Amino acid sequence: MKFFVINGPNLNLLGVREPELYGHETLLDIKEWLNSQKESEGHSFLWFQSNHEGEIIDQIHSGIDKADGIIINPGAFTHYSYAIRDAIESVNILTVEVHLSNIHSREDFRKTSVIKDVCIAQYFGLKKLSYLEGLKKLLTILQ
Ligand code: DQA
Repeated sequence: MKFFVINGPNLNLLGVREPELYGHETLLDIKEWLNSQKESEGHSFLWFQSNHEGEIIDQIHSGIDKADGIIINPGAFTHYSYAIRDAIESVNILTVEVHLSNIHSREDFRKTSVIKDVCIAQYFGLKKLSYLEGLKKLLTILQ
């Protein structure tokens, strides 16, 4: 199966960005780690990161007829991007929402996700393990 792993703004700075919240690993470290997990065997992953809302939407659209599932960490767009929400709803691709940090134990504005309703699950606070939990959830439905 083919999975898109889409990452939003500021996630290109993982490793240097607030490591106490997001960990010391870079996005590339997380990508390599996820690829090495037994759950990933036999599947292909297209990793994408952008700081721009429209590029994220284009990437979601490009999954039509290509991606079996999407793992998305929309970064701060989680909390207010109805456009990303609508893109996920439009493409009919099973999508999970993931976050490295615990969005429910931080500032109030992070407790709201406008993406949540169009995703099959939300994983947060597990650092890179959130991505693996997201993949496992997709696999339980798709396999
Ligand atoms: C984040 C949480 C968001 O609130 C924040 O804006 C991010 C990262 C996370 O992975 O914990 O950029 O999505």
